Amino acid sequence: MSPVDSEPQPLPAVSRTAVWTAQLRADESRLARPCVIDSWAAEFVAAAGPVGPLPGGPEARAFLHDGVAVRSRYFDEYLLDAVRGGCSQVVLLGAGLDARAFRLPWARPVDVFEVDLPDLLDFKNRVVGGRVPATARRVTVAADLRDAWADALTAAGFDPGRRTAWLCEGTLAYLEPDQADMVVRTMAANSPPGSEVGAENATSLDRLGCLSSCRDALSADGAPWQWSLRDPGAWWAERGWHTAAPSMSLPYVAERLTRYLPMLREAGDMGGWLLTGTRRENHPAGETEEPLSGTKRRAGC
Ligand SMILES: C[S@@+](CC[C@H](N)C(=O)[O-])C[C@H]1O[C@@H](n2cnc3c(N)ncnc32)[C@H](O)[C@@H]1O
Repeated sequence: MSPVDSEPQPLPAVSRTAVWTAQLRADESRLARPCVIDSWAAEFVAAAGPVGPLPGGPEARAFLHDGVAVRSRYFDEYLLDAVRGGCSQVVLLGAGLDARAFRLPWARPVDVFEVDLPDLLDFKNRVVGGRVPATARRVTVAADLRDAWADALTAAGFDPGRRTAWLCEGTLAYLEPDQADMVVRTMAANSPPGSEVGAENATSLDRLGCLSSCRDALSADGAPWQWSLRDPGAWWAERGWHTAAPSMSLPYVAERLTRYLPMLREAGDMGGWLLTGTRRENHPAGETEEPLSGTKRRAGC
């Protein structure tokens, strides 16, 4: 790996979570039968230097590892299908150290927009250096999802008239509920019919006993989990998206997650942790935000 030469800025707390996530993908990539192989993950982790161990005890780490492994595979397949099906833009909100622009075998040329906070993207771009994906056009968009991020996205070349595959993976939980709400409405307002979404919902992160030490450590570090949903399907529908959860009968899902089901039920988890879906046509929730067009753009958040 080429070292990141000059003194890097320390990442903000919420962006250090991207390094922990990459660490989990690096660990997964070394297994004999991994859900996902991410050869970039270990490189990012090495370049980030010490960010401390993943907060939480062994039970939390095992659960988070299996969860990240499954969600990575599930969203890999979602994005590949969406692009095969006609989406020509991918937007990763809170992209972190996601290397899908490089590592996925895209069926055709696609624009991949990586939206995240400036320090995280500076760090990532320093590690990436001059390397470019084989098929995708990778565009980084430094923006805060609590602000007018859609303006920055459009300024970077995003076209709200083209079908888009959006992904919110490991991101929304770090936003306050009204901020998460506005992010999802803004996606809907900038999505023509046929656009798709993939999202991770914090359905019981706030209640799972095994995650209490992780929750406390993240809060103390300044990156608390702030958002969770009891009924994700209904919540997304109200905001313009038809969604469905992955089947537990998918072999890799069953193999890695079945053992956690009693714990999730005990925490009152109703399902819907991972969802994929499509834009509901003419749904008013998506129309509450002014779609972006021309040079005058409005983010709506
Ligand atoms: C747990 S990481 C997940 C990263 C990536 N999606 C993945 O799964 O590997 C959360 C990411 O969300 C980003 N993030 C959190 N709050 C944000 C905000 N307000 N604006 C932009 N990005 C944010 C962080 O910088 C971090 O990269």
